[in-house]
Amino acid sequence: MNMLTEAAVEKALDQKMSNVPYKMIGKDVSVYYGEKRALFDVSLNVRENTVTALIGPSGCGKSTFLRCLNRMNDTIDGCRVTGKITLDTDDVYDPDIDVVELRARVGMVFQKPNPFPKTIYENVSYGPRIHGLAKSKADLDQIVETSLQRAGLWNEVKDRVHESGTGLSGGQQQRLCIARAVAVSPEVILMDEPCSALDPIATAKVEELIHELRENYTIVIVTHSMQQAARVSQRTAMFHLGNLVEENDTDKMFTNPDDPRTQDYIMGRFG
Ligand SMILES: Nc1ncnc2c1ncn2[C@@H]1O[C@H](COP(=O)(O)OP(=O)(O)OP(=O)(O)O)[C@@H](O)[C@H]1O
Ligand SMILES: [Mg+2]
Repeated sequence: MNMLTEAAVEKALDQKMSNVPYKMIGKDVSVYYGEKRALFDVSLNVRENTVTALIGPSGCGKSTFLRCLNRMNDTIDGCRVTGKITLDTDDVYDPDIDVVELRARVGMVFQKPNPFPKTIYENVSYGPRIHGLAKSKADLDQIVETSLQRAGLWNEVKDRVHESGTGLSGGQQQRLCIARAVAVSPEVILMDEPCSALDPIATAKVEELIHELRENYTIVIVTHSMQQAARVSQRTAMFHLGNLVEENDTDKMFTNPDDPRTQDYIMGRFG
C-alpha cells in the first residue's frame, strides 16, 4: 500500500507540487463513443497524495477522462479508448488485468449519492466482503467503523448502522458513498462532481473530508465550481472540446494561467 507518513506528506506539501511523484500516468489518451471522438490525445498525470481537479465547460470530456482511469468506460457500449494509462507500474488497459481489482484500487464516487438500498453497515461492508479483506466479523466491524470515521460520518450514524442507508440526508449519503469507496483501501479515489447535489453545509463537510483524505489517498475530482477547485485541489487540469488545454499548480492556474482559454473560463467568459 502506498501510504506516506504524515511527515513525508507535509514535506511534499511544502515543496512545489511538481516534485511529487506520479501515481497514475495518462499518455495520448483518446476516447471514441462510436464514431464520435470525445478526447484527443490527452496526456495527463496524477500525482500521489494530491487532489487533482478537472475543470472545463460542459461536454469537454472531464467525466470521460475520469472514467478512463478505472475503466468505467468499459461498461459503455461502443466506447473505445486508445493510448496508455498506468497505475504505478501496471498498465490499466492490459487485457489480463483484473478489472474488479482495478476498481478496488481506483475507487469512484458519483455525482448523485447512490447508496445501495441496504443498511449503512451493509453498504460499507459489501466491498471488503467480496474482496475478502476481513478475516472475521470483528475485523469487518472494525473496517466499517474506520471507514465511516474516515468519511466523517461515524458520529452521526454509530447508533443506527443497521438502519437503511437511503434514510440518510443527501450529504450523509454522499459521505456514506465515500466510506464505501474507502472501505476497500483504494489507492486512488475518483469523484465526479461529488457535491453538486449537496447544500453548502454538506458541501463544506465533503470538501473538508477531501482535504483530510488526501493524506492517505490520491484524489481526482471533477467540479464545475471554480471556488471548489481552488479550495480543495493542488493541481488543476483544464479541458476544452476534448483537449487538455493546461495543467498546472492550482494557485498558478487561478492567478496566472498559461492559456487564454483557461483565463476566459475561470473568469466566466464561457462555459
Ligand atoms: N455514453 C456516451 N455516449 C455517447 N457520447 C457520450 C457519452 N458520454 C459522453 N459522451 C459525449 O462525449 C463528450 C464528453 O462528455 P463528458 O460527459 O465526458 O463531458 P463532461 O466534461 O463531463 O461534461 P459535464 O460537465 O456536462 O458533465 C460529450 O460530447 C458527450 O456528449
Ligand atoms: Mg461530466
